[in-house]
Amino acid sequence: MAIEFSERIRRMPVYPVAGGYADEAPLVRLASNESPYPPLQEVRDAISRALPSLNRYPDPSNSLLRRRLSERYDVPASRIAIGNGSCDILLAAGEALLEPGAELVHAWPSFSVYPHLSAASGARAVTVPLDLSERHDLDAMLAKITAATRLVVVCNPNNPTSTALPLADIARFLAEVPPEVCVIVDEAYCEFNLLEDPDASIELLDAHPNLALLRTFSKVHGLCGLRVGFALCGSEELPRALDQVRQPFFCNALAQAAALEALAHQDAVIDRVALTVAERNSVGERLAALGIETAESQANFCWLHLGSEHDETEVMRGLQERGVLVRAGRALGSQTPALRVTYGLPEDNDRFLAALAEVLQPAPAR
Ligand SMILES: Cc1ncc(COP(=O)(O)O)c(C=O)c1O
Repeated sequence: MAIEFSERIRRMPVYPVAGGYADEAPLVRLASNESPYPPLQEVRDAISRALPSLNRYPDPSNSLLRRRLSERYDVPASRIAIGNGSCDILLAAGEALLEPGAELVHAWPSFSVYPHLSAASGARAVTVPLDLSERHDLDAMLAKITAATRLVVVCNPNNPTSTALPLADIARFLAEVPPEVCVIVDEAYCEFNLLEDPDASIELLDAHPNLALLRTFSKVHGLCGLRVGFALCGSEELPRALDQVRQPFFCNALAQAAALEALAHQDAVIDRVALTVAERNSVGERLAALGIETAESQANFCWLHLGSEHDETEVMRGLQERGVLVRAGRALGSQTPALRVTYGLPEDNDRFLAALAEVLQPAPAR
């Protein structure tokens, strides 16, 4: 007899993981929106300094990290939640807010973890298509909020489409959302968004106790291997509830040490954003020269449309054969052939573009 699993396991989608982890040949890894830049030397030194104390549990309250984040963002430490990556905060929010009979509203295509929140809790997922520019349609999302809605997630910039909304649109949206509905604005990529000062959204917190801004050390700080994220919240209730549903010590000691040090190097963040934006512009121009349509990226990745004449699976295979790993659009919710491609180092991007040009070439006439 096979093991009998819970009903929710049957409901839960399997997270679409990137391939290539078992490959030994050097690969161009552009599939997971990671930073191509390794952690700063100062951050690596901080991790080394934390190693001898690993016989001790980490600070379960993440006190020092919350204090430094509080100083950096001018949000009281009691309104800051830490997570084992920002995914951990999303899943905890699902657990704290959702249950059968409740509703979760989010856009689609958007980050592939959001459907887990409804599936895990038994809440109803209300998904709202993106607009024609592949951005969130906030009016359509507002129209879907009912008395059963407990949580709305807005991903800005949106993964996988890379597009961002102006903050004024989000402010207008928040003004219309009932105050008892929690809104998470997932800002994993906000540092790469040139439409706005990444800190501008923080001002919204004071007017909206139901708002949480989700941030991460995984992307611009290049620390996704350690797993540490945080949420800046409009009230103390949400961080408290998030902590209630999680195991103690969810953020490990090395992650806390690394994040603390990373925060002290904002200049490096600015430099890295500038490098990424330069690659974003260059890759965008070269994709356009290949005749490929892309969404307007405000992130560290692009979302490109292959055109209906191309088979997405074949293109993925062709790229993989050439040592280039990207993400297939269909697995991320696209209805048409698409790819999500992270900007890498200049040489990675060159290799991706050369491989793509080869793969998309029409077969020679016989
Ligand atoms: C929109 C979005 N939010 C959150 C995350 C989670 O990041 P992490 O758990 O590494 O902080 C990701 C990761 O790709 C993402 O794309």
